[in-house]
Amino acid sequence: MNACPRLETDRLILRPFIDGDVDDYFAVLDTAEVRQALHLSESLDRSDAWQQMAWFLGQWALRGTGHWALEERSSGRFVGRAGLHYPERPDWPGVEVGWVLHPNYWGQGYATEAGAEAIRYAFEDLDLERIYSCILPENLQSQAVAQRLGMELLEERTMAYFPSSPHGIWSKAR
Ligand SMILES: CC(C)(COP(=O)(O)OP(=O)(O)OC[C@H]1O[C@@H](n2cnc3c(N)ncnc32)[C@H](O)[C@@H]1OP(=O)(O)O)[C@@H](O)C(=O)NCCC(=O)NCCS
Repeated sequence: MNACPRLETDRLILRPFIDGDVDDYFAVLDTAEVRQALHLSESLDRSDAWQQMAWFLGQWALRGTGHWALEERSSGRFVGRAGLHYPERPDWPGVEVGWVLHPNYWGQGYATEAGAEAIRYAFEDLDLERIYSCILPENLQSQAVAQRLGMELLEERTMAYFPSSPHGIWSKAR
């Protein structure tokens, strides 16, 4: 069993979520930009943010995958989450690399920096052969991150957990 490791990049700390992150994490999810991009329910609230944190932390314990909380090294501020997501869904392609930042921190390369470290961890530490990203066709910013990380679009398909639209399935081999 793998606990969530603490990692560092040039500008970010990737660390396990802690209970005290709930307000900062909800502040990320509660922006109009993130709600729209992730199609979050209008009813999503602070307790849902806490459940997501617990979901990721539990996934590290169960599967050795999960998202890290991201901290800006220069300020110690919470900027979002990124990491490796492998939920129990029959049509999920595999271990997914993903990223969600507070809009205040968009446009600085932080998602690409965290994504690169997550992919390095997936290939070197978890010894995975391939990673995936499931990205809605209209989410051009997320597609740009995937492209910067050397990922390619394999196919578009509709997954059971999100029946209203197909997702692009992006992928990168080791
Ligand atoms: C997807 C998301 C994380 C992308 O954020 P982002 O800021 O565009 O991506 P990055 O952090 O990699 O930053 C890249 C941008 O920073 C710029 N940049 C500035 N300084 C930089 C630096 N030092 N290094 C690298 N890039 C830098 C790049 O040129 C690029 O700008 P551009 O978009 O004008 O080309 C963000 O839009 C988000 O959180 N969206 C909502 C959640 C979401 O959709 N998640 C994905 C679901 S599939």
